[in-house]
Amino acid sequence: MTDSSIDSRHFRDVLGHFPTGVTVVTGLDASGRPHGITIGSFVSVSLDPPLVGFLPGKKSRSWPAIAESGSFCVNILGAGQDELCWRFAKEPADGESKFEGVDWTPAGSGSPILPGVIGWIDCTVEASVEAGDHLFVEGRVQAMEHAADVGNAMIFFRGKVAKIDMPSA
Ligand SMILES: Cc1cc2nc3c(=O)[nH]c(=O)nc-3n(C[C@H](O)[C@H](O)[C@H](O)COP(=O)(O)O)c2cc1C
Repeated sequence: MTDSSIDSRHFRDVLGHFPTGVTVVTGLDASGRPHGITIGSFVSVSLDPPLVGFLPGKKSRSWPAIAESGSFCVNILGAGQDELCWRFAKEPADGESKFEGVDWTPAGSGSPILPGVIGWIDCTVEASVEAGDHLFVEGRVQAMEHAADVGNAMIFFRGKVAKIDMPSA
């Protein structure tokens, strides 16, 4: 099969069988306004130096705004945070912000840490490379933390949010 024979719906359907965690990548634009995008393509890249990565689409409205600051924060969603997952995956209503009513706190870079997340990773942009209709953005980790009392993780599988039931320690 050549790549031109891969139907985009089939591509999405098959890739949807690969379960991912769910993150929201947040940051501030040059005027200090917060932006965020739900991202499943988050990956740990390197331990030394500490690098992580993710792939925003080239049509993303929020990524160019976040990139202005040169920093971003990856927020790892826990089970039950479906509202945050869908809120940051949709375009907000006219004139509204995706952050309406969200009680966030700033990481060291100023990028938002969302309430109730099970972990966060504050980064500076190390590199941004074209990858088809997406960009591969590499971040250098500046600070990171996980919640003390972590419940279940959120996963995304076949277009739906699910959760992993962790056995209690
Ligand atoms: C679980 C989940 C994972 C997603 N992962 C990605 C991703 O890795 N890259 C991407 O570009 N969009 C991803 N999306 C879609 C974006 O969240 C969506 O297109 C969003 O509207 C982009 O916002 P923006 O235009 O404000 O940047 C994902 C959506 C969901 C629900």
